[in-house]
Amino acid sequence: MIRVQATTELAAATGADTVAVGLLDGERIHHDTADGALAALVEAGEAKAAPGHLAVVHADGKRWVLVGLGRREDLDDERLRVAAAKVHGRARELGTRSLCWELPHKLGPEHHPARAVVEGTVLAAHRMDRWKRRDDEDGAGALEELLVSDHDDRTAAVERAVVVAGAVNAARRLQEAPANEMTPEALAARARELHPSLQVEVEGRADLVRRGYGAFGAVAAGAHREPQLITVRHEPEGATGPVLGLVGKAVTFDTGGISLKPGAKMAEMKFDMSGGAAVLEAMGAIAALGLPVRVVAVVGATENMPGGGAMRPGDIVTSAEGLTIEVDNTDAEGRLVLADCLHHARQLGAERLVDVATLTGAIVVALGSTHTGLMASDDAWAVEVLAVAQEAGEPVWRLPLHPEYADAVKGRYADLTNAPEGRKAGSITAAEFLKRFTGDLPWVHLDIAGTAWDGGRAYAPKGGTGVMVRTLVALAERSAAG
Ligand code: BES
Ligand code: MN
Ligand code: ZN
Repeated sequence: MIRVQATTELAAATGADTVAVGLLDGERIHHDTADGALAALVEAGEAKAAPGHLAVVHADGKRWVLVGLGRREDLDDERLRVAAAKVHGRARELGTRSLCWELPHKLGPEHHPARAVVEGTVLAAHRMDRWKRRDDEDGAGALEELLVSDHDDRTAAVERAVVVAGAVNAARRLQEAPANEMTPEALAARARELHPSLQVEVEGRADLVRRGYGAFGAVAAGAHREPQLITVRHEPEGATGPVLGLVGKAVTFDTGGISLKPGAKMAEMKFDMSGGAAVLEAMGAIAALGLPVRVVAVVGATENMPGGGAMRPGDIVTSAEGLTIEVDNTDAEGRLVLADCLHHARQLGAERLVDVATLTGAIVVALGSTHTGLMASDDAWAVEVLAVAQEAGEPVWRLPLHPEYADAVKGRYADLTNAPEGRKAGSITAAEFLKRFTGDLPWVHLDIAGTAWDGGRAYAPKGGTGVMVRTLVALAERSAAG
């Protein structure tokens, strides 16, 4: 854990052993060292404004890292997040203990430099090798302190960013933990420790049966491990606005079930709980920030295993909604889990829905690791989520729904099939399936199958990305603002 603090002191006056300064194309350095070492470094061509370019110099008893930020008119939060991650990488190599970032000056209100620098640094500091023996050869120690220096007081922005980035890293830890460790019960245990102000309830296999949650129950049937229907409620006094309902897919390991997946890369299916992880950790942040909005979260956690009790292709199951579903492919399990979870969120009083799920391989083909796929039943709600995600710096792209796609999920023997014949528009038909369980509530579906891990960005290159935590927290913030 890095200590993070805002300061209005000049970077040079702080106790930091290393100072980071952004270099904008064609602009001078505002606070140079006594002997002009920074300008000299630019003059010598060693420091460049090219985005992410790094140069280091020693002066005034400190190390100075100059990082390129490109042209001012092209600067956005993402470029600053990436720059901060690159500076963190160099600072780590240099053995920096305390780093002070001098924020770029005179940016408009569309910029959130303090947030971006804190996020970029804290996210870059995440390590995913906690199962490895400590390697003493790698003498690089961890950064202990980050100071964010600006003429204006950035305390509020810094404190918020620390909570949010901490939640993203917490989601990444849940994602990266192997499935033998991150079981449905372990996820439920994490839900219970998120924040003391949250109300957490956990139900198991018998409760799924009692409630008639036959779709979720069918997925859990093949697994020895107990499934967990996790609900988390944030109900602060004086909250206003509609109740936000967050639903997450948490298949802690997806073997495909009887429709077994091929062996290549199957290990990646430990990440099939990424939606649930994002929803849980977002709830922790929402509670920690004390956002004045009511939120109910429902996370469906189970393994999808080919056990003796497993559902078979062709089985017909009955969802809580009363709709019958023909299971034509046991590997299309996420929509079965979510069907009952969406219903459950409505039962608990959700008035607007967002679900987050690693739902389809098709979204990886369509959008790669860059954009999360968004599908929605309600234009206004879709536009709001898109705008919030954009500001949070998480790219999201909308795909259409249409009655012709909905035809594809009609069952031959039952009301619905979980796996349309052929693979056309696989992400959209999955969404059309989910839509049947959302009643008439505004609903947005976020398919994160391409963005949940190995994102390739400087602040989260490999492993879990914690994608959508930032967006969900910002969405709750926006709801609170009215
Ligand atoms: N968890 C997978 C989706 C997935 C695939 C996520 C690859 C990340 C990378 C999901 O449960 C699944 O298996 N979906 C099937 C559905 C199909 C059988 C209709 C898919 O996308 O192939
Ligand atoms: Mn599957
Ligand atoms: Zn899955």
